[in-house]
Amino acid sequence: MVKVGVVGASGYTGLELVKMLVTHPQFELSYLATTTGDTVIEQLHPSLEDVITFPVEKADVSSVAKHCELVFLALPHKASMGFAKDLLKEGVKVVDLSADYRLELDTYEEHYCEHEDREHLDSSVYALIEYYRDELKTTNLAAGPGCYPTATLLGILPFIPYLDTSAPLFVDAKSGVSGAGKKLSESTHFVTVNDNIFAYNPLKHRHAPEIAEKIEKVHGAKMNVNFVPHLIPATRGELVSVYATLKEDIDPLEVLKKHYANDRFIRIREKPVDIKSTAGTHFCDIYAAKNGNGLFVNSAIDNLLRGASSQALVAANLMCGFDEGTGIPTIAYVP
Ligand SMILES: NC(=O)c1ccc[n+]([C@@H]2O[C@H](COP(=O)([O-])OP(=O)(O)OC[C@H]3O[C@@H](n4cnc5c(N)ncnc54)[C@H](OP(=O)(O)O)[C@@H]3O)[C@@H](O)[C@H]2O)c1
Repeated sequence: MVKVGVVGASGYTGLELVKMLVTHPQFELSYLATTTGDTVIEQLHPSLEDVITFPVEKADVSSVAKHCELVFLALPHKASMGFAKDLLKEGVKVVDLSADYRLELDTYEEHYCEHEDREHLDSSVYALIEYYRDELKTTNLAAGPGCYPTATLLGILPFIPYLDTSAPLFVDAKSGVSGAGKKLSESTHFVTVNDNIFAYNPLKHRHAPEIAEKIEKVHGAKMNVNFVPHLIPATRGELVSVYATLKEDIDPLEVLKKHYANDRFIRIREKPVDIKSTAGTHFCDIYAAKNGNGLFVNSAIDNLLRGASSQALVAANLMCGFDEGTGIPTIAYVP
């Protein structure tokens, strides 16, 4: 058994990690922490009452190093790199769910803040599993992709070779409210969200440069990414619709089926996808269709799982030499 821990255990993605780790056959949950600690996990998450009991400490690098061979950092950006740089020096493998190790230095500093761990930024691996599987097997630092970039990139990357990359890419994305984390704000207030749907940060959201950077990394294509996220009155789930311009006559579903033939957590659908069928799972469901040279790509994920915690767990599986599907949820919360 490999001993693992979660820093940020009181948050939404932290809870998802705990839920998967307690039944994982090859990881032993050995450490949980938050900013202040001094509690137990079932007090932070009453849904775990009478299921598990586990102490939660105040996050501390030497304590992580004492208890864990690998740790998940389910923390806000900036807080993550504060821990990661010292943990890596202590020889602990790190899977970071924040934006701290996802981007090139210039992109990160333009859209987030000054980077405090340039040394490790260069050696991190972007944990979009289907594209970086081999690199993840040998790294000590995996950077979890953003939730919107996960759904968008898994949908559009197979098509980039067939696109007119000089034409703009339009990404219309919709997310359940848990994507914003547990902290309440005016835009995530029940009264604002209930019976409502609205765009936020249109064309300015920080996930647009992440999508553009990864398209360029994987295919060498610089694209003008126009990204508009919306909040929907759901707890979890993300639906992405991408609109692009084809330069070749292709069969979109055939392209997807061939591209993902060996990827068991990508499901190619024959009709438009929905969030409920992926809720509670690691699946990304994808559908695509065309009208002349107009391409429509439609993908759905659970933002807390494929968009964060289950993708992080798959990365950890690979980093520790386990089968990527070990302990990964596949049965959706339906109905
Ligand atoms: N939510 C999603 O769908 C999603 C998807 C992809 C990626 N992510 C990323 O994953 C990370 C976690 O997201 P989340 O939604 O789980 O956020 P969250 O619900 O707000 O939880 C954040 C956690 O971080 C802890 N924390 C904050 N600063 C800390 C510090 N200095 N030391 C120790 N613990 C600290 C908080 O603990 P306290 O309770 O002690 O304050 C809390 O448990 C974020 O970077 C987010 O961008 C989230």
